[in-house]
Amino acid sequence: MIRIVALLKLLPAVTALADHSFSPLRHLGGIAPYFEPRDPPTSPSPPQGCSPVRAAYLSRHAAIYANDFDYEEYMQPFIEKLQNRTGVDWSKIPSLDFLAGWTAPVSEAEEELLTRLGKLEATQLAISLSFRYPTFKLPQKVWTSSAERTNKSAQAFVRGLEMDENTIKVVLIDESEKEGANSLTPYKGCPAYSSSAGSEQSAAYRDRFTKPITARLNALAPSFNFTSKDVYGMMELCGYESVIRGSSPFCDLDLFSPDEWLSWEYSADIQYHYNVGYGSNVAGVFGLPWLSATADLMLESSKNSTNQDLYVSFTHRELPPAVLVAMGLFNNSDPGGLPERINQTMPLDRINYQRAWQSSKILPFLGNIAIEKLQCAGSYGFQDGEYYRVLVNNSPQQLPQCNDGPGTSCSRSSFETYVQARQALFQGYSTKCKAKSGNLTETLTIYTDPSIGKAITVGKRAEGEWGLGVGQD
Ligand SMILES: *[C@@H]1O[C@H](CO)[C@@H](O)[C@H](O)[C@H]1NC(C)=O
Ligand SMILES: *[C@@H]1O[C@H](CO)[C@@H](O)[C@H](O)[C@H]1NC(C)=O
Ligand SMILES: *[C@@H]1O[C@H](CO)[C@@H](O)[C@H](O)[C@H]1NC(C)=O
Ligand SMILES: *[C@@H]1O[C@H](CO)[C@@H](O)[C@H](O)[C@H]1NC(C)=O
Ligand SMILES: *[C@@H]1O[C@H](CO)[C@@H](O)[C@H](O)[C@H]1NC(C)=O
Ligand SMILES: *[C@@H]1O[C@H](CO)[C@@H](O)[C@H](O)[C@H]1NC(C)=O
Ligand SMILES: *[C@@H]1O[C@H](CO)[C@@H](O)[C@H](O)[C@H]1NC(C)=O
Repeated sequence: MIRIVALLKLLPAVTALADHSFSPLRHLGGIAPYFEPRDPPTSPSPPQGCSPVRAAYLSRHAAIYANDFDYEEYMQPFIEKLQNRTGVDWSKIPSLDFLAGWTAPVSEAEEELLTRLGKLEATQLAISLSFRYPTFKLPQKVWTSSAERTNKSAQAFVRGLEMDENTIKVVLIDESEKEGANSLTPYKGCPAYSSSAGSEQSAAYRDRFTKPITARLNALAPSFNFTSKDVYGMMELCGYESVIRGSSPFCDLDLFSPDEWLSWEYSADIQYHYNVGYGSNVAGVFGLPWLSATADLMLESSKNSTNQDLYVSFTHRELPPAVLVAMGLFNNSDPGGLPERINQTMPLDRINYQRAWQSSKILPFLGNIAIEKLQCAGSYGFQDGEYYRVLVNNSPQQLPQCNDGPGTSCSRSSFETYVQARQALFQGYSTKCKAKSGNLTETLTIYTDPSIGKAITVGKRAEGEWGLGVGQD
């Protein structure tokens, strides 16, 4: 009897364990609002005895209203169809009844612009870094590619970091092809890179996973004639509407199940694999210049007035994954696996649940990669000295062949050897990119050459925004 009572008492705990809570917003690849996946679940704190003395961050811009391709290809046609087919009485259709009163959260005019949440996220990142690095001096400059959404992300970041008006400059770096490797958009100067790479493969899996969903929705509302692209666009709207309005009925698990979201995520991972991941022959090549330049900044031992403790750069979604390839992180192949079999790790007819390459964990809005230089003293079992480590979205990552330090870090000499080995794999930007002029800069010098880019200052107050604070200070 007593045993049964004890067992009954356990029941609520058991049900709680069985209830696997699922958020589509953690599985939306490049449309996921910023989150820290804790993968691997190692602590982001520096290892025992170590303190960061310098750090560099490469961040994707924060949340936007919509990427133009996503909007024009998937969401807009669905939204237009919804406006055209006024004959459907949505209010009578379970799981789609919200469509009776739903209005689109984004218009063409807003495409590509940062949302309020995006600005907040970028400001919040600055505050997190100020807590993380309390001894660092404030940077003089923050770098960004020149597009509106990266520019605004950099400015919101600077507003969060600076204590007084106009103390930190935002340096705008041109996004044109002629910059070659010397920009935060090096894929633009790389003709061997195709922005549509991966579309075909991703579409193959998309058609497969949306088929039963399309059939289910068409059984509910035959006259709407849902298509594969409509379904894909509805799932994208979950992400975009969430970062615009704070929530979205398209995220409802009664509409699309957890397994269906995992399928959406996999189709995005296929796209990024071929586009800017290990399935691309040039991703590592245009990812390398940032790794090389940043490694130099971290390894530089003299402290002089142009050195900063913290280097932060904003870019678009293409660059961070390419840098991860250059670093050898999130590689699906097991050690000893054959590099020529890499594409087979992303089959197009089923999900590889064991894959390391998961875009949601890499590329949410504001997704970022950090390299930290640590000074360690009294780390038991390790010599005092300089160590280096990498974090992705605040999770420390173990670099391949660079693991002789405390925690996930490695010593100065291993880090140097590691960077040289990555350079040997991916150097030769102009040749491998098949750059036409054969005259492009091979390296990234924006951090050390003050003549590059256009520096602007940033006031604390975002002028005129939200109609608040206009005309007063
Ligand atoms: C919506 O209707 C307009 C006007 O009839 C038409 O031009 C457009 O192609 C339609 N769009 C869709 C997605 O059905
Ligand atoms: C960046 O933003 C600032 C402030 O809004 C603006 O003055 C500047 O023109 C922008 N630069 C570019 C290249 O868009
Ligand atoms: C449904 O949409 C598809 C794709 O746009 C089109 O080919 C087909 O003719 C449509 N069917 C009906 C009944 O409207
Ligand atoms: C200061 O540091 C910069 C950047 O690393 C370097 O290019 C420059 O030569 C250094 N200047 C001196 C005087 O050491
Ligand atoms: C990915 O891992 C495999 C197996 O360890 C390795 O052979 C290959 O070089 C790695 N790819 C890159 C780009 O680092
Ligand atoms: C993977 O597939 C892409 C696209 O077809 C191709 O360019 C690349 O060479 C393939 N990679 C390997 C290692 O076979
Ligand atoms: C090569 O670079 C130099 C210096 O930037 C420039 O003057 C020249 O026009 C370039 N040549 C070509 C073919 O782009």
